[in-house]
Amino acid sequence: MSQFWSEVVKGLTPYIPGEQPKIQNLIKLNTNENPYGPSPKVIAALQAVANDALRLYPDPDSGRLKAAIAEYYGLGTNQVFVGNGSDEVLAHVFQALLKHEKPLLFPDITYSFYPVYCGLYGIQSEQIPLNADFEIDLADYAKPNGGIIFPNPNAPTGIPLGLQAIEALLKTNTESVVVIDEAYVDFGTESAVGLINRYPNLLVVQTLSKARSLAGLRVGYALGNKALIEALVRVKDSFNSYPIDRFAEAGAIAALQDKAYFEETRQKVMASRAALVLALRAMGFEVLPSGANFIFARHPQHDAAELAQKLREQNIIVRHFKQPARIAQFLRITIGDELQVQRLVAALKTLV
Ligand SMILES: Cc1ncc(COP(=O)(O)O)c(C=O)c1O
Repeated sequence: MSQFWSEVVKGLTPYIPGEQPKIQNLIKLNTNENPYGPSPKVIAALQAVANDALRLYPDPDSGRLKAAIAEYYGLGTNQVFVGNGSDEVLAHVFQALLKHEKPLLFPDITYSFYPVYCGLYGIQSEQIPLNADFEIDLADYAKPNGGIIFPNPNAPTGIPLGLQAIEALLKTNTESVVVIDEAYVDFGTESAVGLINRYPNLLVVQTLSKARSLAGLRVGYALGNKALIEALVRVKDSFNSYPIDRFAEAGAIAALQDKAYFEETRQKVMASRAALVLALRAMGFEVLPSGANFIFARHPQHDAAELAQKLREQNIIVRHFKQPARIAQFLRITIGDELQVQRLVAALKTLV
């Protein structure tokens, strides 16, 4: 605290990102990164832009990237917004579309950045409890609201929601924006992108950080009706004209174009997930159904914090959330490659 801080800063409760330790030979299963590197075509595209043109600002509209995203999803370029990671896109969404007189609704157990943005932008919110099976029940969102946001699949549970439930919500909730944060959608969850042209209040947010292995490049995007996109552009152009640098634009385009690599790596992650779930259940873990590149699991006889600590002593890092109490006995484990999964399973076998 300092006399120089503004009132806003004094009142903030910032997001705490997962650890990025500098330890060698670590099996890092704590921040849902992809165990496989980006496509070799992305690396080549990045090398190709390491040249004299870096002295020039990038395209403030990221026109080539927007065109590549629009083509990929069969949308118009005016239905695409891009930003510096989906966290930045989400921040603009909260400010541009979710700040209203009525409260914003989101699940009580979800991506912990949502309440942080509410704090930053002074948005009132109401947290809707997950049901007894840790699922989002969209029937519980049928109440007056200034907007609705949830991840699909949800994080940190990993549980996916079907499109039928989402469409039922969109049919009734027509007076506020519904934002679906599809950060992990490519690992076996149905995307709502196909509904965009039918529901003008639907905004879908995605990222290249997960299934495209580009967490380090920072590219995310929102897809929706052109009026929603225009609101985001207005905020972006009041904040930072150049969120996508020359590397990010070139790498992101190459990643979207290499569909074969994307398909191969996401299938490998899903196969490792299936193997891990089987092994964990055989050891007595309860594992929630996952449509993501992580699983959420608890063991009836072993304390989650202790398990996380003992794994760390074996150089394996997973994520444990002390709060809320309802999930304090769960571990969130990112799906690693085949060898990492084997080493995790071997380590757990010595502990449970
Ligand atoms: C649900 C969810 N949404 C969005 C993000 C942000 O991803 P990025 O800013 O890397 O695009 C994350 C990151 O872990 C996430 O878990």
